[in-house]
Amino acid sequence: MRILDLGSGTGMWARAFIDWYDIEVAAVEPSEAMRARSMHQPVVHGDAERIPLDDGSVDAAWISTVIHHVPDLNRAARELRRVVRPGGPVLIRSAFAGRHQAITLFRYFPEAIRVLDTYPSVADVEAAFTAAGFVTVGLEQVPQVTAASLREAATALRHEAHTPLQLISDDEYAAGLARLRKAAQRETGPVVDALDLLVLT
Ligand SMILES: C[S@@+](CC[C@H](N)C(=O)[O-])C[C@H]1O[C@@H](n2cnc3c(N)ncnc32)[C@H](O)[C@@H]1O
Repeated sequence: MRILDLGSGTGMWARAFIDWYDIEVAAVEPSEAMRARSMHQPVVHGDAERIPLDDGSVDAAWISTVIHHVPDLNRAARELRRVVRPGGPVLIRSAFAGRHQAITLFRYFPEAIRVLDTYPSVADVEAAFTAAGFVTVGLEQVPQVTAASLREAATALRHEAHTPLQLISDDEYAAGLARLRKAAQRETGPVVDALDLLVLT
């Protein structure tokens, strides 16, 4: 089996898929800096609208926290229809507009919800993919342990690593960080978030 990891970033998913399933991964990433630091190699230059792979050459596509970066969803959906073999799944892992409830950060940085709400919604993505010939086969919230504790989450938080946090004001960020640090003093237990997994074939 060969899967496409589109917008592969640090390469952590490509690496995990190879370790977990012993499959072949075609990693595609537009950012030169990310390609250079990727823990998975090789990574090919390309993006969702120009995927440098042959027709029907992958069995599935994995698109993790990338879909909000894609300027033309219709074109991306057509490219994915071209490169994924008929019947192969496209798995889109994302925070979608209107679906912030299961993500801890938005509890402390409520202003970031307005940024999330500029992301594509599930319906927006489905519309583009349906037009390209895909059918939705599943939408599921997948829980993950984001940090061992809120204290650890607060310590590890990097402003620049989260697009919604980059786009709120400095005052809003400072107030949210103060709320998070205060809560971290009393809350124990792991931080569990859930991102959506939208699956189309
Ligand atoms: C938040 S990172 C996610 C990286 C990785 N998929 C993960 O889950 O760890 C978003 C990635 O999407 C890439 N990206 C941005 N625009 C893109 C596009 N139009 N097509 C494909 N990837 C894109 C960025 O360069 C970045 O590496």
